[in-house]
Amino acid sequence: MAVTVLAVETSCDETAAAIVRGNDIIASLVATQEVHSLWGGVVPELASRLHQRTLTSLAHEAVKRAGIALDDLDAVASTVGPGLIGALLVGASYGKGLAAGLGKPFIGVNHLEGHLWSASVGADQLPLPALVLLVSGGHTELIRIDDFGRYALLGATLDDAAGEAFDKVGGLLGIPYPAGAALSKLASEGDDRRFKFAVARTESPFDFSYSGLKSAALRQVQKLEQDGEQNWRADLAASFERAVVRQLKQRVMAALDAGTYASLTLGGGVAANGRLRRELQSIAGQRKIPLRIPPMEYCTDNAAMIAWVAARRLDRDDIDTLNRPADPNLALVSDPA
Ligand code: KG4
Ligand code: ZN
Repeated sequence: MAVTVLAVETSCDETAAAIVRGNDIIASLVATQEVHSLWGGVVPELASRLHQRTLTSLAHEAVKRAGIALDDLDAVASTVGPGLIGALLVGASYGKGLAAGLGKPFIGVNHLEGHLWSASVGADQLPLPALVLLVSGGHTELIRIDDFGRYALLGATLDDAAGEAFDKVGGLLGIPYPAGAALSKLASEGDDRRFKFAVARTESPFDFSYSGLKSAALRQVQKLEQDGEQNWRADLAASFERAVVRQLKQRVMAALDAGTYASLTLGGGVAANGRLRRELQSIAGQRKIPLRIPPMEYCTDNAAMIAWVAARRLDRDDIDTLNRPADPNLALVSDPA
């Protein structure tokens, strides 16, 4: 029998609730906290308060839209890390309280495990082993999936995450937080060769580094402003985006060269980037392996991916006690590959 699970996600600035039945998402709601754009980044205290205000009604609305009763649930899941501790505690406490009240199991899900599988939610089985490029506002990682629950970290950013670089350089261009999507739109009108931004070198070919690129963009913007130049914003956005994506592409190709993979997939907010999607499509085509891209709605933070992971764990009887803590630094893999 297909299991039915309600999951809530509150690790950062999206309050989300979703219900999965087997492999299918039967309700998924996301309320984005717009208020943070006023401060140029997420204000943790505000995020927690807004989750508190929104979560209960959002979860009840998800149950209503799924056309089920609370008692039809086989388990309740919450994201328990990594993320902002105050924000995580709201979702974890809600999930545990509901599970206890219903007398159903509680499952604490790692947010990154949700992103890893986001292309598989409601879709065909992912051919394994798979190489995953996880690119969000907080993470830039290359991970190998050997099986459900068996992940190896191949490389990670040594400083800024790719999404963070988009947000910071977007800020220089006057784009409100989170800037990735709008920067990318601006980039589509620009000349991506006008400014030369180098791709950072790292000791490991699978690691990433974006702080140098961010500083180079800042120096370029300061020079253009000093010189009183006009009409450079779209060209800068395009040249910057090209540099970000070139680095991601380079590391993916290095990882594919070093191992044997049955598929390539990506996850996280930056997976919504059109240029990145096109580049990975071409790499996958050349290597003749399938590329699994999550739909836009499952790229950025959502509870559907958390519910999907929770259902797979319930199938394996992998549940948590109500003592499972929220952990802002929760790791996905304990040892590097
Ligand atoms: O996964 P996510 O929703 O939250 C985290 O867990 O961080 O990712 C949000 C990040 C932000 O940095 C945002 O600027 C970026 O994803 N992003 C994009 C695009 N859409 C969202 N970056 C580049 N191009 C996009 N189209
Ligand atoms: Zn995320």
